[in-house]
Amino acid sequence: EEPSAALAVPQAGEPGLRLLSRIGVADPESLDEYRANGGYRALRRAFALGPAGVLREVTDSGLVGRGGAAFPTGRKWQATASQPDQPHYVVCNADESEPGTFKDRVLMEGDPFALIESMTIAGYATGAHKGYLYLRGEYPRALRLLTNAITQARARGLLGDDVLGMGYAFDIEIRRGAGAYICGEETALFNSLEGHRGEPRSKPPFPVEKGLFGKPTAANNVETLVNVLSVLELGAEAYAAIGTGKSTGPKLFCVSGNVERPGIYELPFGATLGDLLRLAGATDDLRAVLLGGAAGGFVRGDELDIPLTFEGTREAGTTLGSGVVLALDSSVPLPRILLRIAEFFRDESCGQCVPCRIGTVRQEEALHRIAERVGTSGGAEGSADDIALLREVGEAMRDASICGLGQTAWNAVESAIDRLGAYA
Ligand code: NAI
Ligand code: SF4
Repeated sequence: EEPSAALAVPQAGEPGLRLLSRIGVADPESLDEYRANGGYRALRRAFALGPAGVLREVTDSGLVGRGGAAFPTGRKWQATASQPDQPHYVVCNADESEPGTFKDRVLMEGDPFALIESMTIAGYATGAHKGYLYLRGEYPRALRLLTNAITQARARGLLGDDVLGMGYAFDIEIRRGAGAYICGEETALFNSLEGHRGEPRSKPPFPVEKGLFGKPTAANNVETLVNVLSVLELGAEAYAAIGTGKSTGPKLFCVSGNVERPGIYELPFGATLGDLLRLAGATDDLRAVLLGGAAGGFVRGDELDIPLTFEGTREAGTTLGSGVVLALDSSVPLPRILLRIAEFFRDESCGQCVPCRIGTVRQEEALHRIAERVGTSGGAEGSADDIALLREVGEAMRDASICGLGQTAWNAVESAIDRLGAYA
């Protein structure tokens, strides 16, 4: 079946693509090619609008964060800009670690100057003069290309004391993560940047008020920042016309699993899960799809009419998260997948708070016992007590954990039990 007519998917280099338009077209090592393909138009428009104008455009565009939580970017930037405490900071969260997520990697490796330009715009709008780019340690190619992009931008007056001769000073420092999933949580990331253990802080206060070094900080995901270029190039109104009412603009989806063409897909918000999976060539005996990664949830293989929007997935009782779409056919051993997810959370818990430190261990133990029963008898008979324990531990983690890791560690398992009938 062909995707719906509304979903005319442009190919690389065609005008309809926004986030991926330069990828595979412009040399990611060449500032000249970046500029020849539209680069630095958005920053020029930002300077013409002034900081208040940029804040207005970003707010009116309806852009929400692409890291997973969908917080309004304009509100975040306005709140940072309005803080009297100085200095202000911009932090790009490039510690992309959600299992199944690789969109930021593609952006950074394929179009590194776009991130440098958009961080400069974020700094200008929020009154910051220093940006930190916290990069996942396992992305060495992105590190090389971003370092090159920053060096070239500095040499050409696009970073430094007088950006584009407009009297605005801004520079970017890259810091590498060291392989801890929790350091993608923004406040753990700040602690890591400050040289402390990567443990989350309690929120509030939110980073817009007290973030990096206790100062007002706008922390944004890579894809969120790159969207700002489109907001400024198109104008808020035209940008907001892409997608749906509450999920505006284009979105990158990370498709993996049992599909013929895994990879990153750029679609306007509003395509259905079925549209996307048809493009990616999903197999016919689709059993389940994991949306939003390990922190997300499973839906059944027959729930393909779910709209891929933040509001649509919420209404369907699931999540879009950072855009993970992991397709599983009936050959995949679900108990083994759930156990792997539980191992992941147990391993990555920072151990700071009890519900998560202990709960992730208990969850893994219970799933291990169930998986062993399935392994010996082919069924999960005798597992009722363990499933009840999983629910109890899962609710405690969700209600009492400090940060999103503990709060979401039971999501995937719960959805597998309730939605897929795992172990039934
Ligand atoms: P959150 O909802 O606590 O916050 C989202 C953002 O909005 C943060 O920047 C926060 O500071 C800001 N914010 C929230 N309320 C605010 C307020 N009243 N005033 C000012 N700012 C406010 O969510 P969190 O914990 O930052 O992120 C959770 C998401 O991260 C999940 O959806 C999960 O899927 C995703 N995630 C993504 C990963 C990736 O690799 N992309 C890895 C792990 C999780
Ligand atoms: Fe650390 Fe888990 Fe508590 Fe988050 S919920 S602070 S990862 S122990």
